[in-house]
Amino acid sequence: MRIVALLLASLALPAMAADLEAGKRLVEEKRCEACHHEKTMGDAKAIYLRKDRKVSTLAKLKSQVALCNSELNLQMFPDEEEQVVSYLNETYYKFGK
Ligand code: HEC
Repeated sequence: MRIVALLLASLALPAMAADLEAGKRLVEEKRCEACHHEKTMGDAKAIYLRKDRKVSTLAKLKSQVALCNSELNLQMFPDEEEQVVSYLNETYYKFGK
């Protein structure tokens, strides 16, 4: 599965695909979803897709990622935050660019 996803990603826009891969890896490394899972008591994705979700625009997505990053001292650099935002937007939120 992962290999297929990587192949598909490399066929698409290479720079953007690299960002998405990096964002996905960061979300795993920083254990974002382990914490979200405890909050929603559901599947890790539920927090992004819940009915009363906080994030309703790309700008809000950026500030929420920045907030989780700084509040929780996850120590991501700004370009890493951008990659995480791209990944979450592409995968769950689908706001226009
Ligand atoms: C220690 C716990 C914790 C960690 C770690 C954490 N978060 Fe969160 N996150 C939360 C909580 C709690 C909320 C819900 C905030 C609310 O409802 O006000 C949230 C909400 C969010 C939302 C908004 C969901 C919505 O309502 O649409 C996003 C996006 C998000 N987090 C991204 C991240 C990312 C990316 C990381 C990792 C880099 C991360 N979070 C790490 C606790 C955490």
